[in-house]
Amino acid sequence: MIKLENIVKTYGSKENRTYAVNEVSMNIDDGEFVSIMGKSGSGKSTILNIIGCIDSATSGTYYVDDICVSDMSIGKRKKFLRENISFIFQDFALIDDYTVYENIEVPLIAKGKSRKEKKATIKKYMNMMGIEKLARKYPNQISGGEKQRCAIARALASGNSIILADEPTGALDSENSKNVIEILKQVNKLGKTVIVVTHDINVANATNRIVKLKDGRIVE
Ligand SMILES: Nc1ncnc2c1ncn2[C@@H]1O[C@H](COP(=O)(O)OP(=O)(O)OP(=O)(O)O)[C@@H](O)[C@H]1O
Ligand SMILES: [Mg+2]
Repeated sequence: MIKLENIVKTYGSKENRTYAVNEVSMNIDDGEFVSIMGKSGSGKSTILNIIGCIDSATSGTYYVDDICVSDMSIGKRKKFLRENISFIFQDFALIDDYTVYENIEVPLIAKGKSRKEKKATIKKYMNMMGIEKLARKYPNQISGGEKQRCAIARALASGNSIILADEPTGALDSENSKNVIEILKQVNKLGKTVIVVTHDINVANATNRIVKLKDGRIVE
C-alpha cells in the first residue's frame, strides 16, 4: 500500500514561497487504478513525482508497505525506484538511439537479467502491445501510439508493481488514446497498482477512483 501523510512541497524562499503540494494525505491500495485530475498547476505532476521517487517532499511522510521512502537517502531511493516503480510519460521518454527492442531491454539490463530471460520478456511484452514487428525500428520511425506502446512495454518488462503515468494520452489522437486506456486497464488487471495523472475524462472514467487536486490540495 502507498501511504502519503501530510505531504508538502514548496518552492522559493520565505517571501515568495509557492505551495506546489499542500498537506496531501492519501492511501492507495495494492492493485488499485487511480487517476489524479485538476487544473494546470494544481500539483498533479509534483505528487506523482514524489510517489515515483524522482522528486522529494519538503515535509511529510511517504510509505510503500512498511517502508518509509521519505526517510531514504537519495541513493537508496533511486534503488527503491528501480526495483518497484515504472513511469509512463506524455512524451514517451524513449531513448532515440535505441531500437524498440533495446528500449524495452533497458530495465532488464538494470536488473541484471540473463540474455535468455531478457529476450523472452521483451518478446512477451512486444506481443502484448502489438509492436513485435517494430523491434528493429527507432523511435523516430514509428507513430506516437506505437511509441507509447513501446514505453508501456518497457514499464511492464521491469516487472515493477507500481506503474505511474503522467498524461499518457496527452500527445495522442482519440483513437490512440482509447487504445492506451484499454492497455492501462489491462495492465491494472495484471495486478499492478496504476496511478495516472490526466486531463482526459475518458482516462479518468476508466479508473476506479478519481482524486481531484486544487491548488495543491485534495478537494474530493
Ligand atoms: N521547479 C519548480 N520551481 C518552482 N515552481 C515549480 C517548480 N515545479 C513546479 N512548480 C510549481 O508548482 C505548482 C504545481 O506544478 P505541477 O507541475 O505539479 O502542476 P500540474 O498539476 O502537473 O500542472 P500541468 O497540468 O500543467 O502539468 C505550479 O504552480 C508550478 O508552477
Ligand atoms: Mg503536470
